[in-house]
Amino acid sequence: MKKRVTKAVFPVAGLGTRFLPATKSVPKEIMTLVDRPLIQYAIDEARAAGIKEFIFVTARGKSALEDYFDLAPELESKLRKDGKDELLEILKTTNMDSGAIAYIRQHKALGLGHAVWCARRLIGDEPFAVMLPDDVIAAEKPCLQQMVEAHAETGGCMVAAMEVPGSKVSSYGVLDIEEDMGSIVKIKGMVEKPPVHEAPSNLAVIGRYILTPNILKNLNSIKPSAGGELQLTDAIAAETAQGNNVFGYRFRGERFDCGSKAGFLQATVSFGLARPELCEEFGQYLHDMVAMRNAAQ
Ligand code: G1P
Repeated sequence: MKKRVTKAVFPVAGLGTRFLPATKSVPKEIMTLVDRPLIQYAIDEARAAGIKEFIFVTARGKSALEDYFDLAPELESKLRKDGKDELLEILKTTNMDSGAIAYIRQHKALGLGHAVWCARRLIGDEPFAVMLPDDVIAAEKPCLQQMVEAHAETGGCMVAAMEVPGSKVSSYGVLDIEEDMGSIVKIKGMVEKPPVHEAPSNLAVIGRYILTPNILKNLNSIKPSAGGELQLTDAIAAETAQGNNVFGYRFRGERFDCGSKAGFLQATVSFGLARPELCEEFGQYLHDMVAMRNAAQ
């Protein structure tokens, strides 16, 4: 019987330099879309997919993340005293059972592959998910859940995938397609951030992965590549070279690149408009802004 995916790794050690000065003292994963930090979106998605153990690969300066998932006794007793039950309910989503969350330090920024490797002892010998909280995905059925369901059929390794314009391929891991079956694509290779003329396709990896424990072995032997870093992409590509199955999964949903300012702003607008309590006022404001800009042009 195939093992269920119950563990997820969240690489959250990045410095977030693109958002300085905000990220000087606030981890970028705590930056907020409407009223929830990025990391909360990833955790909610993981929970919906059946994840029970959450492994954070952190670094210096990320302690706000640990506090975020801790209890807040003073705040909670004040809210209880004031009868603010709704807010108490909201806070519950930030709590984790004891032992369900673990923090591992990545002492040096050696790349995404290295970050996942740092979690190897906690992953053990079972398939696991990796989620990059920068990639926020709005979907009717959460993306990782879609993947867990597809993976129950395919086994092997699976990465979320999305077509991107040719001019953008050099920002992504890119899939070399062996067989395109629609939502599932069997792949024969994967390249990290190729120049456009060397890209094997324009099907890009988005930050959701379901990986076999063999990836951890591959991570022991890969060498630094794109950007001089140890790339997770190379460890997954090694699977295809060893004849093991790797699939791309074209998820249903809208992905926002919250690692970029434009993507973050787009996500803010989209998630803001999706809130019933905000959509009217905020929608009207956006409408007026656009009308004003058009009139001025
Ligand atoms: C990482 C991965 C890359 C993937 C991307 C998705 O790159 O290395 O393969 O396509 O996430 O967001 P990063 O954006 O961290 O440079």
